[in-house]
Amino acid sequence: MRRITVLNGSVNRKGNTQYFIEEILRGIPKEIDRQFFFASDYMFPLVYKGLYDPEYSRKVAGDNIYSLQESILESNLLIIASPVYMHNISSNLKLVIEKLSTWSHILRLDGKPVVVLSTCSTNGDTTVTSYLCKVISTMGGNIIANCNANGFQLHDEVWLNDVTNKIRSKIICSIGNSLQSNYYIEEVFKGMKLIMNDRIGSDVPNSFAEEESTYWVKSGLINYDSFQKFLDDKYNLK
Ligand SMILES: Cc1cc2nc3c(=O)[nH]c(=O)nc-3n(C[C@H](O)[C@H](O)[C@H](O)COP(=O)(O)O)c2cc1C
Repeated sequence: MRRITVLNGSVNRKGNTQYFIEEILRGIPKEIDRQFFFASDYMFPLVYKGLYDPEYSRKVAGDNIYSLQESILESNLLIIASPVYMHNISSNLKLVIEKLSTWSHILRLDGKPVVVLSTCSTNGDTTVTSYLCKVISTMGGNIIANCNANGFQLHDEVWLNDVTNKIRSKIICSIGNSLQSNYYIEEVFKGMKLIMNDRIGSDVPNSFAEEESTYWVKSGLINYDSFQKFLDDKYNLK
């Protein structure tokens, strides 16, 4: 069954951000499963030994972030959303993103379609949406929609209907489609490949870093000239 994973950075589980997300999902066919996660459930502090651990060999006991990681990786589409708190994403969501930071060195989202959402009262939203788009793309996620709703817009039925319809149709279009790279992801891929070419064989054995360079070798990523070709061989042509 196809599945959407939703990660909401708000501290309010029934707040504006959840409302915006649910308005979008309301018209999505029931056969598409959805799983909701709140960043506030993943507040175990960041532990150095848990970073750069794509193989999960150094799992931090007591941290439940791994189940969230698994759900994101197994889903067909990710919705990541944050309210604007002091002109930025919520600190809860930032903590989760920091725990996922190794994904930015291995493009772990593998072209997964991603919707970025934010809500605010009046301002600060471009900082939030542009930041989320940037980190998700750096992790290899393909942004298919990116939208903020302020307090007035959330209560404006015409605006809300129009925007949620547009985002919904992008979701429905992307969820069954082949996985796509884009210009930004290709630039990240080229840069990381240069770095990994240097690191393979020279990263300290059994170090955090070696897990990342080993991932590039084991996944075959290092042998590709474009990320799109990697996605085609791994998923699209199967
Ligand atoms: C700690 C905090 C800081 C906020 N900072 C901003 C801000 O910088 N700009 C803004 O427009 N709204 C700000 N707001 C308002 C929220 O972004 C807005 O109400 C949002 O829709 C809340 O979403 P939620 O109900 O899902 O938490 C702030 C709210 C809180 C609680």
